[in-house]
Amino acid sequence: MARDADERQRLGRAFQVGGARYDRLRPSYPIDAVRWLVGSTEPLRVVDIGAGTGKLTAQIVDLGHAVTAVEPSADMADQLTAHLPDVAVSHGSGEATGLPDRSADVVVYGQAWHWADPVAASAEAARILAVGGHLGLIWNFLDLRDARMAALDAASHDLDQGSTENSSSAKSVGAQFGEPAVREFIWSLPTSTRDLADRVTTRSYYLAADKPGQQHLRELCAETVEREFGPIGDTVVEVPHRTIAYRFAIG
Ligand SMILES: C[S@@+](CC[C@H](N)C(=O)[O-])C[C@H]1O[C@@H](n2cnc3c(N)ncnc32)[C@H](O)[C@@H]1O
Repeated sequence: MARDADERQRLGRAFQVGGARYDRLRPSYPIDAVRWLVGSTEPLRVVDIGAGTGKLTAQIVDLGHAVTAVEPSADMADQLTAHLPDVAVSHGSGEATGLPDRSADVVVYGQAWHWADPVAASAEAARILAVGGHLGLIWNFLDLRDARMAALDAASHDLDQGSTENSSSAKSVGAQFGEPAVREFIWSLPTSTRDLADRVTTRSYYLAADKPGQQHLRELCAETVEREFGPIGDTVVEVPHRTIAYRFAIG
């Protein structure tokens, strides 16, 4: 089910708090997926929009590229700057990055394209990309083909009107770009049962919920993890993930 624009803005702004928890509990991306997303071993100018606490940014820096981060939430951007003091941050958004025309070889969004207005963000990406550049979108998911992951996903969405596959927003990329190349990556992440249960506290719909709603989601996710994986604590379990990545060349 697609979100309407008001709902998208309300949930997207929920990331104004919770940066430290986000940084601790959310995974990075499989490095092969990041390599594919950027698409070159030559050093490129990469703009990471909705960079958050810098999870994707740090991986692209490690691959040898020059990254500029764009992030509207000061709380998230403060975490990024603490880890990556040499990365320039623009406190803009996908719709208005504040960056010059044709200043990027690659524009990427990690887990963030679905928060931007697709019409304005497509125009903005096309404006800042150099000739021959591309837009890369990437999302991590729990692998819902595993019944335990499906149960946890359902618990974490218990207060939503219906969960949204955020990557379906890739369809909204504008006509400035051609048809995408798409790749899927299947992987797993060793995670403590405590961190797995707590991951819900980093979700936009949790951050936007009232206190009783937040407590309900925490309890339901903890019960589900306990039932599916065992007691909440330091025990580490393998958590199946799926990553989907898109590359859109500028037309
Ligand atoms: C789920 S986090 C992803 C952070 C990071 N890219 C990662 O991979 O972990 C989504 C980020 O998008 C940001 N965001 C929300 N609305 C946005 C917009 N209109 N344009 C760009 N970023 C936005 C949020 O502040 C948040 O930091």
